[in-house]
Amino acid sequence: MYTKILGTGSALPKQRVTNEDLAMLVDTSNEWITSRTGISERWISTGESASYLAAEAAAKALADADVEPSQIDLVISATVSPDNFTPTVSCEAQKALGLSRATCFDLWAGCTGFIFSLMTADALVKSGLFSHALVIGVEVLSKLVDWQDRSTCVLFGDGAGAVVLSSSSQPGLVTHVSGSDGTRGDVLKIAGIPLANPWMAQHVGESETGSQSVICMNGQEVFKFAVKTMESSIRRVVELSGSSLHDISYIIPHQANNRIIESVAGRMKIPREKFFTNLDHRGNTSSASIPMALDEMNRAGLLLPGMHLVLVGFGGGLTWGASMVRWTR
Ligand code: UT7
Repeated sequence: MYTKILGTGSALPKQRVTNEDLAMLVDTSNEWITSRTGISERWISTGESASYLAAEAAAKALADADVEPSQIDLVISATVSPDNFTPTVSCEAQKALGLSRATCFDLWAGCTGFIFSLMTADALVKSGLFSHALVIGVEVLSKLVDWQDRSTCVLFGDGAGAVVLSSSSQPGLVTHVSGSDGTRGDVLKIAGIPLANPWMAQHVGESETGSQSVICMNGQEVFKFAVKTMESSIRRVVELSGSSLHDISYIIPHQANNRIIESVAGRMKIPREKFFTNLDHRGNTSSASIPMALDEMNRAGLLLPGMHLVLVGFGGGLTWGASMVRWTR
């Protein structure tokens, strides 16, 4: 028993924010942002919730897959920016789309969340426990960004992407590799709610760390980690699948920084054109970036039956992973 991708979808908030818009907020410029990151614009929620964007992307993926909501029996949403601790984004999408038969849960794994969710759904479908899964990556990172911090606020965007999976007699999801290094979690951190209760000496707002839930990042450390782990993840997943780098039609990387992608392409001597990027008009959307890119490629007609694709991600935790996909549609 195998798993294959039947359809893709994505959704964006309405508000487009350009580099020039950001230069009116913080001391930055279009020149700095494009040359250091490759990003020109991103889409920022002015009211769209993570659950709303997830349901929109999922509805489009269901239509693309020609699958009825009643056929879906599993929903996994990758996110670090859910609307609530509970109910989850997946349960909210279930409610919006009438996915009444589905078991729904969210998965947190930083920007690698979509790869980990795809791997989890693949294993659960292959086991025979589920037959049709929705895997969603969704973020409203704009609520976790410090809009005074020019080193981070220019990078991120909001959005959602989704895929519909089904069991199959032919391999679509060929194999996955993954890893984590919790000892390096501090290089990319979003603090949670500090502990505060009547039995503590310090109360809310007076915690020892004074932590706020905003993205804190050592950009250069993340950059070095990203280049190293993307290269090793691509090499390992290709080797494990029994193919060679020449067999790969496209690599769909986490859309964080054009220079990271160029550096990986250069080190691996893979033509830059094989790495699909849409970060110039999306920014870094964390868990949503890979399924949003996949959907853009699918809708542009770039994906042909039999093509081999590598999806590769890295992010907070630290975490990393890659999936080898044989496109079967
Ligand atoms: O999903 C994973 C998320 N994270 C990442 O992927 C981040 C990976 N890292 C990066 O993408 C890059 O490290 C950044 C884009 C974040 C930063 O680029 P960099 O080339 O590493 O710049 P830097 O941090 O070394 O900063 C260079 C200079 C500094 O000024 P000084 O100290 O040289 O005077 C910064 O203060 O650029 C300054 N700077 C800016 N200037 C204008 C930092 N941010 C900005 C800005 N506009 N937005």
